[in-house]
Order: sequence, then structure tokens, then C-alpha cells
Amino acid sequence: MKFPVTSILVRVLALTMLILALSHVGQSKGSGWKQGGSKSSHGHKSYGSTHGQKSHGSKGRHVGRGNNKPPKNIPTPITPSPPLSPPSSPPTPTRPSGLQVGFYKGLCPNKLVDIEAVLEIKVQEHFRKDPTILPAILRMQFHDCFVHGCDASILINGLSTEKTAGPNLSVRGYELIDAMKAIAEAQCPGVVSCADIIAIATKELIKLGGGPNYSVQTGRRDGLVSRAQDVNLPSPFLTVSETISAFSAKRFTTEEMVILLGCHTVGVSSCAFFQDRLYQGTTQFDPIMDPTLRQQLMPTCPKGITANNSTFLDQNPRSSNIVDNSFFNQIQKQRGILPIDQALARDPKTIPFVQQFAQSASLFNTKLANAMVKLQALDVLTGNQGEIRKTCSRFN
Ligand code: HEM
Ligand SMILES: *[C@@H]1O[C@H](CO)[C@@H](O)[C@H](O)[C@H]1NC(C)=O
Ligand SMILES: *[C@@H]1O[C@H](CO)[C@@H](O)[C@H](O)[C@H]1NC(C)=O
Ligand SMILES: *[C@@H]1O[C@H](CO)[C@@H](O)[C@H](O)[C@H]1NC(C)=O
Ligand SMILES: *[C@@H]1O[C@H](CO)[C@@H](O)[C@H](O)[C@H]1NC(C)=O
Repeated sequence: MKFPVTSILVRVLALTMLILALSHVGQSKGSGWKQGGSKSSHGHKSYGSTHGQKSHGSKGRHVGRGNNKPPKNIPTPITPSPPLSPPSSPPTPTRPSGLQVGFYKGLCPNKLVDIEAVLEIKVQEHFRKDPTILPAILRMQFHDCFVHGCDASILINGLSTEKTAGPNLSVRGYELIDAMKAIAEAQCPGVVSCADIIAIATKELIKLGGGPNYSVQTGRRDGLVSRAQDVNLPSPFLTVSETISAFSAKRFTTEEMVILLGCHTVGVSSCAFFQDRLYQGTTQFDPIMDPTLRQQLMPTCPKGITANNSTFLDQNPRSSNIVDNSFFNQIQKQRGILPIDQALARDPKTIPFVQQFAQSASLFNTKLANAMVKLQALDVLTGNQGEIRKTCSRFN
């Protein structure tokens, strides 16, 4: 099996990462991940290491092409499902988000223009040239929604905006958002929000990647706040319980958390987030990891070396850029990459969900579509709130 190493990968340079990481240690609110209490000896790696970051263009990586599985039709969820009560913290009741499918119908000067369909074509073109835009935008969506809601705050340029939290080497795909915004402004000036553009791109890419074909809701407005100090995403070194708490704080159930982490069915991770799992003598050493996988990863991420290398989050070599349930099969086989990914398959609180998603491709699709609709509705601005940015990287 060809090992997916990132010879041409544009990603975190670990040295830069560590320097920047250290520069964030000691801040009361790190501009990256919070440290996991029991994992604090590794938490420093989490500080800002993969967050809020700037595009390095869409240079092709090691991700193969030709993986355009025909998307499946699934029933379309319109309303986010109400959160079930996790035992730890009572969820706030779900209120209508103010979003709707097809919000922009009839809102362009030429009332016949279906601007969302026009934007989807741009996404398709980009994906054909660079399939790695899929993981890039999917991750951008998660990072945007988890900080201040899905309000495109991640797109703002500036000295201490969300984008600048930690080293800017990791979230990519800004160029697609800008290209889509240019099309929207040309055909429909001042109407389409940047937050909706991210949402439309995400939904279209999930479909193009072979995942569920769900109807995306629109009607988001763009936020007026973007602060690095607000970026507080969960670290991959947290325990399952800590991660459940982080998602529960955003009103997601454990099941929804598990399916959303199934987004790691596409994309890559840099060595820094998993290399200690490979080597005896580190507190992260993982003796249960599949030995074949360990052997493969060792040359990619040598002990004690901060290699500018990475590997697929989904170690099924046939589906590393396909949105399917194989990630769940891999973690069941002890072939997870991120510590939190592998932990899902070992914690009694999440094992049942992992088993169900691993077993059923259609359950995976349905639950992922529902969870994405809910993620994409998280703390959105609608109506007269916020603004419609003219340029996605600055406030009006
Ligand atoms: C506890 C929650 C999560 C943690 C700790 C986490 C952590 C990470 C880390 C450490 C990486 C590797 C980044 C790098 O090497 O630069 C990554 C990549 C990625 N994450 Fe997550 N993640 C989480 C949830 C999610 C969710 C909910 C989604 C999607 C909705 C998502 C989508 C992605 C994607 C697609 C990539 C690959 C990016 C690429 O290849 O460019 N993640 N994540
Ligand atoms: C990491 O390696 C890739 C390809 O090997 C290279 O394009 C990229 O610039 C490197 N990153 C850094 C920060 O050195
Ligand atoms: C990070 O973002 C800031 C602000 O957008 C930018 O000035 C800086 O050049 C970026 N750094 C990198 C390494 O891309
Ligand atoms: C996806 O769903 C839309 C809306 O229901 C439908 O028009 C389209 O044909 C579907 N696409 C695929 C590839 O299934
Ligand atoms: C990156 O991975 C390749 C292939 O596994 C390996 O040959 C190379 O030595 C690694 N780079 C570093 C800096 O360790």
C-alpha cells in the first residue's frame, strides 16, 4: 500500500508551530485549543496549532483524484434535530434559527437567477481541479461555527482576528470563498452573505465527496466581531468526556459529536497531533495502535523530530478523500490518527455510536446530514442582525 505521505503538502511546519504554540502558552484564553487537564503535558501542541488559519493556496497534495463516487439521495433534513439531554449539562431549548432552504430565491435583480445553483457550479469546478478543497472547507465550516457561530468571522483579515489565532498554516480554502463571493456580487450585489457562501460550499463538497446530498439552509448574515482571543476549539488531546462537554456547551449530543468527528473521513493531520502515540516512553504512547499502521507512520514522523509531514485522517487508502463511514471502521481497527478519533472507539460512552456508523452507510449519511444542518445553524445571525459583507475578509 502506498503510504500517504505529504511530500507536496502545504501544511504546518512543526517548528513554526511550536514557536507559535509557545507564544500562546500562558495566555488565559489560548487562541487555539484549550488544554486537556490530564493531557497537559501535550496540550502545548494544541495551542493554536490548527486553528483559524490562512490559506496557502490550493496546491495539490497527496490526495488522489477520481474519487467522485456518485452521491446518494437521502431524505433531506430541514430543521435541526432538537438536542437530547446529555447527563452533564441541560441543553438550552432549540429555537427556530431563522434559516430556510432556498432563502435567496427571487432576491437577485434578475429574479430568475438561482444564485445558489450558480455558486454550486463554481464549487464543482474547483473540486475537479483540487479535491483537497473538500477537507479544507469542511474544516473551515467547523471552525467558523464553533467560534461565535456560523457568521464568517473566520474570514476576517486583521492583526488579531480569528484567522490569526495560532499559526496560520492550517485552515485553507479562502480562495474558493473569495471566488464565490465575486460571482455573487457580480450577479446579485449586496445580497449573499459570506457565511452562506461557506455553508453552500460545504454542502456541495460533501455531496461531491460522495457523502449525503442534503438541502442546505440559507439566510445567514455576516458577523461584526472576529477576535483571536475568542478562538477556543477543542484540542485533539482532550478525553472523550472533555470533548463531550465541549460539544454539549454548543448544544450537541454525544451522538452528534461522534458523527461530526466522522468528518475526519477526509483530510490530513500533521505529525504533531499523533506522533507521540507511536513511540514508547512518551505519555501519549498507544500500545494498542495497529502495529502495521505504526510501522508505516514511524518513518513519516520520526521520534523527536518535528517533521513537516502528515497523513490521512481516514487510513482506508481507498477512501481517504471520500465522505463515507470508513473512518469509523478504521478507528474500530485501532487505525485512528488523532488521539480523540481513536478514543471514540474505546470509550463506552461513544462505542455504541461508532459501531452503528461503522455498520451502516445509510445511517452515517442520514446522521451526518442532520448534524451538518445543525452545525451550520449554530448561533447564526439572521434577519437584520450583522451585515452582508461586500468583501468576505473585511467588515463593511
Ligand atoms: C473535537 C473536535 C475536533 C478536533 C479536536 C479536531 C482536530 C483536528 C486536527 C488536529 C486536525 C489536523 C489539523 C492539521 O494537521 O493541521 C483536523 C483536521 C480536520 N478536521 Fe477536525 N477536529 C475536530 C472536529 C472536526 C469537525 C466537527 C469537523 C467537520 C465538521 C472537522 C473537520 C476536519 C477536516 C475536514 C480536517 C482535515 C483538514 C485538511 O485536510 O485540510 N473536524 N481536525
Ligand atoms: C512543508 O513541505 C511542503 C512540501 O514538502 C512545502 O511545500 C511546504 O512549504 C513546507 N512547509 C513549510 C512551512 O516549510
Ligand atoms: C496570518 O494572518 C495574518 C492576518 O490575516 C497575516 O498578516 C499573516 O501573514 C498570516 N500568517 C501566515 C503565516 O500566513
Ligand atoms: C441532490 O438533491 C437535489 C435536490 O433534491 C437534486 O436536485 C439533485 O439531483 C441531487 N443530486 C444528486 C447528485 O443526487
Ligand atoms: C517525511 O516522510 C517521508 C516519507 O515517509 C520521510 O522519508 C521523511 O524523512 C519525512 N520527513 C522528515 C523530516 O522526517
